[in-house]
Amino acid sequence: METKIAVLASGAGSNFKALVAGDTGPGTVDILLTDNKDAGALKLAEELGIESKYLYPGKYKTRFGIVEEEFWARFLIHRGVELICLAGLMRIIKGPLLEAFHGRIMNIHPSLLPAFPGLDAQGQAFNYGVKVAGCTVHYVDNGTDTGPIILQESVVVLESDHRDSLAERILTKEHEIYPKAVKAHCLGRAVYSKVVR
Ligand code: GAR
Repeated sequence: METKIAVLASGAGSNFKALVAGDTGPGTVDILLTDNKDAGALKLAEELGIESKYLYPGKYKTRFGIVEEEFWARFLIHRGVELICLAGLMRIIKGPLLEAFHGRIMNIHPSLLPAFPGLDAQGQAFNYGVKVAGCTVHYVDNGTDTGPIILQESVVVLESDHRDSLAERILTKEHEIYPKAVKAHCLGRAVYSKVVR
């Protein structure tokens, strides 16, 4: 049976595109939601023929207002969405959305978590001098880039790398693992409570 997916993105939307184009099994991207009127993801949605919507996030910069998050949650429940995929959403979800969709929200993060949570994970890893970087798809809990890990992929840091070249190779791996993780969830092979930590 089809699983309706909502993708929440704030930026360019390349992971959104990977979820639309990739093999997500019974998962189908139903709608793109954004908190940013200028998000490149909006243009991509138009090109891809996916419905999109800007939703006002409230007055805070790094999270949603409670009233606004309640609105998003009601909107998604009413639409029959069963899985939320955060794809470069630059806000923390902590309130009503997390309660309504507990175990059904995934995030992609450009580091091998639990290393380098938060902003500019690729820059953090590069500046630290790691020899192996990577990306992670995980279920969302009430922490920042925490929650049960579903899939990870590593990327070797080359002598010639700079922050952006590393970030580019990590992004390519992100596009590979996000659809795989979504497929696993939609087929019941990844479950929040059963992912081994
Ligand atoms: C991706 O690298 C994603 O992992 C990262 O933002 C980028 C969005 O790119 N997300 C985070 O850092 C969240 N903590 P995209 O808009 O092209 O998918």
